[in-house]
Amino acid sequence: MDRLGLLADPAVRSAFGRELGRSIEYHASIGSTQDRARELARSDASGPTLVVADQQTAGHGRGEKSWLSEPRASLLASWTFRPAPAEPALFALLAGVAVTKALRPLGVADLGLKWPNDVWLTGGKIAGCLAHGAADHVVIGIGVNVWQRELAPEIAETATSLRRAGHDIDRLALLARITSQLDVIADPANHPAALTEWRRRSITLDREVEVTEAGIAPFRGKAVALADDGALVVETPYGQERVIAGEVRVLG
Ligand code: BTN
Repeated sequence: MDRLGLLADPAVRSAFGRELGRSIEYHASIGSTQDRARELARSDASGPTLVVADQQTAGHGRGEKSWLSEPRASLLASWTFRPAPAEPALFALLAGVAVTKALRPLGVADLGLKWPNDVWLTGGKIAGCLAHGAADHVVIGIGVNVWQRELAPEIAETATSLRRAGHDIDRLALLARITSQLDVIADPANHPAALTEWRRRSITLDREVEVTEAGIAPFRGKAVALADDGALVVETPYGQERVIAGEVRVLG
């Protein structure tokens, strides 16, 4: 059973929004919830918002990547936090922890976190997080593969879905739980515990990795630590490198 479409009803939306402490904008289809939430955040300095969609036609992933999703298969949402609770990169990393904490009570265990903010399950990516900051707010966008039977050929090798891993998850329940967990990590007092949880669930730490960053040649080394600002510390033959942006591929 999936109840996300109930948000199309304004009465349900407003009751649910009151429960979550945010005003909710629901779209059956939109280009990108992230673009819309950023637009709202720029134009409206009022309370917290949540933009959610049943389909995105131009979803963004990290970097220049797009985020592919078929209709009604994914949880696609963007939340605005004002003031910004952390630097965008750190908040996106902690959002990965929020997703794992939201899924745990819904019966999904064995979740792993790949630096910086990918959530993995049974050898495939099921969720990704993206944050955009401005002077007085941050917009966090999360996409979770929920009901897909097959993934698009471009991502089929590395991605999976909750359904493919044997979990039937109601996107409305997941939305509520992720929102609560984001509210937890939005409190800086909870950052140390969330970072500890990230390190515990990491599938990147203690592994050989290849790092690709714009403007420099790819390099390899061992991921030895996660710094408190979210940087990945990689031990190379030439010393330690702090990776703040870029792609990390786990080698074997
Ligand atoms: C990544 O892993 O590359 C981050 C993916 C983030 C995707 C979500 S889906 C909801 C929100 N709207 C977007 O356009 N992107 C984010």
